[in-house]
Amino acid sequence: MFARVKSLDAILATAEKKSLHRSLGAFQLTLLGIGSVIGTGIFVLTAAGAQKAGPGLMLAFAIAGLICIVAALCYAEIASMIPVAGSAYTYSYATVGELLAWTVGWALIMEYAIAGAAVSVGWSGYFSGTILDQFFHVHLPAALSAGPLVLGGAPGGFINLPAFLIAGLVTCLLIVGTSESAKVNAVLVMIKVVALTVFIALTLTSPSFSAAKFNPFLPAGMFGGFGTGVGAVGAAATIFFAYVGFDAVSTAAEETINPQRNVPIGLIGSLLFCTVFYIVVAAGAVGTLGGQPIMGPGGVPFPAGSEELARQCALPQYAKELVCSKEALAHVLRTIGFTKIGNMLGVAAFLALPSVILMLIFGQTRIFFVMSRDGLLPERLSKVHPKFRTPHIMTALTGGLVALGGAFFPVGQLADISNAGTLYAFMMVAVALLVLRSRDPGRKRHFRVPAAWLVAPATIIGCVFLFFNLPYQAMLFLPGWGLLGLVVYFLYSRNHSHLARGIEGSEAAEMPAPPTPGT
Ligand code: ALA
Repeated sequence: MFARVKSLDAILATAEKKSLHRSLGAFQLTLLGIGSVIGTGIFVLTAAGAQKAGPGLMLAFAIAGLICIVAALCYAEIASMIPVAGSAYTYSYATVGELLAWTVGWALIMEYAIAGAAVSVGWSGYFSGTILDQFFHVHLPAALSAGPLVLGGAPGGFINLPAFLIAGLVTCLLIVGTSESAKVNAVLVMIKVVALTVFIALTLTSPSFSAAKFNPFLPAGMFGGFGTGVGAVGAAATIFFAYVGFDAVSTAAEETINPQRNVPIGLIGSLLFCTVFYIVVAAGAVGTLGGQPIMGPGGVPFPAGSEELARQCALPQYAKELVCSKEALAHVLRTIGFTKIGNMLGVAAFLALPSVILMLIFGQTRIFFVMSRDGLLPERLSKVHPKFRTPHIMTALTGGLVALGGAFFPVGQLADISNAGTLYAFMMVAVALLVLRSRDPGRKRHFRVPAAWLVAPATIIGCVFLFFNLPYQAMLFLPGWGLLGLVVYFLYSRNHSHLARGIEGSEAAEMPAPPTPGT
């Protein structure tokens, strides 16, 4: 199984044969990256990040951003060499073999589907808080706006109905083939960027802004302890979610003009842009409202999303705290006196987050698509609908998973679990880079990572480091999910693999791939 390595030439030949129309340039790719990156992470998880790190949230954004930038450099080199769909899964297939590639594809389900659920829950917070509460004065009861307490939801929670419905709606749109056009993506990126820019301008110039609010800077320390997920590094492991999605750029490599030049620009450009933005947004939120965690016994912050924290947040003295808000950024603006603009920011999140859900569900179907093209998943799954011309079965399956996740689980927990899978995939991309550098040093690389022998190991160390700073539940999910994946592999995929059956490059390669939304 380790020896079942797909030849790079065969992958490239397959891509050439079935090639999608190449129409994307560097600017469009950067917009695509920003469109799929800015979402629940910054609009919602800022509160959970502050509960873990306090004002050190800014440092958390910097740490997570740095690790994503080195990972993006690795993505950039490989995507410029292997500009095909399938991202980390395909790169692993070409380097470390089928079994590990399968585990990467399997982990990418954690990345995309569970992230889709997390963004649905984040959207639900803005829908309930801004659209229903502020505009229609309708207060959705906990029973309909949060999952049950036993799964980490809120007291009195049963189902997060808005999250369920938005994931269902996006899935239906994808099934009937409503793909987001480049123009719609550009407009949504503009809405998000304007909302965050206004947030920065208002908070940094507000009379409520004071340097004293950054003190103490690290109330829970740098490291909060193994498995606790608190401290600046624990917050970095959670807030890492805010950067997930930049790899969408590499999955669009097959649709890019001159991918060798444009993919690296798109990846690194969108990521650098978001890192700077996030750090300044965090400074604005903490500098105005303060971002000190609510401390439990022994001076350790209550876990973000926990029942104890929900109880504290219900007390009048904590009602206005940043760490208690489900719509962190709108809440900051309303609290410092900009109620209307806070509501507008809420509307921006309400409008823009569904496109992030769309990108994530689409990303998931694209990975499934490539895995079934390779025979590791049943080809039936990627059957194209006769009327809509979309892979409706896998889209419905993915969307169902996303809707159920969003309906019953809290955003922080979903984000942490998604991060665990993503960190594994990023680490494997760095491994793939090193394997290709030593196995195939002569192959033309249109983008070479500078100091690759430092950057790739830094990516591996950074991903492992963040992984071990996640809460223990998220850490344990990865091996549990991986084990299930191995059962599926040995029961099905191993025997159906096209590579093993020698039908690489067959009619399966001719199956049409749906185009990337936002392109
Ligand atoms: N990075 C994306 C978000 O923050 C997934 O919503």
